[in-house]
Amino acid sequence: MRMLKGTAIVLAVLFAAIQLIRPDRTNPPTDASRTIDAILEVTPPAAPVLSRACRDCHSHDTRWPWYSEVAPVSWFLVEHVNHARSHLNLSDWTKYSHEEAAHRLRTMCRYSREGVMPLASYLLIHRDAVLSSEDISAICDWTDAAREILASRSETSTEESRSPRTER
Ligand code: HEC
Repeated sequence: MRMLKGTAIVLAVLFAAIQLIRPDRTNPPTDASRTIDAILEVTPPAAPVLSRACRDCHSHDTRWPWYSEVAPVSWFLVEHVNHARSHLNLSDWTKYSHEEAAHRLRTMCRYSREGVMPLASYLLIHRDAVLSSEDISAICDWTDAAREILASRSETSTEESRSPRTER
């Protein structure tokens, strides 16, 4: 009995101590001129789906839940969001080259369709982020259209660069 009490005290002290290790979970400021919307209009019905199911991890507009304040859950969540942002960041989209953007659009559709995204661990808690077949179609219809827009823009820009400039 006494040992059990001792263990409980040690655990409580340990739990309190790890709370002091606080990874930075603030949202970086968003520069509107760098977001995906600055280049490609994210239209409904895709926009609300992305906002509901993807933005917590893939944008600067993360809605941090209360338990993200509590270590060691906080470490796990912050690591996850940083990792997710480093792979795909809708709030810092203009850093992607034409190919990188096209690749991400294609993968957004594929991962949604294959159930890779949103991550299963997130869906356990965020049931509202589960994608219906309509949601998946909305994402894929939009990413297909967005890729066409990108492709048509890159064609015009190569034509422009090929044609001789008369004035500078
Ligand atoms: C709980 C956090 C979380 C949510 C929510 C989430 N993702 Fe992800 N996503 C990640 C992480 C973490 C990675 C990096 C995975 C890896 O390293 O393999 C990732 C990677 C990706 C990639 C790969 C980008 C690349 O490198 O090419 C795509 C595309 C993607 N996610 C799309 C989505 C879409 C679309 C949604 C919403 C339907 C979504 N994700 C929701 C965490 C999340």
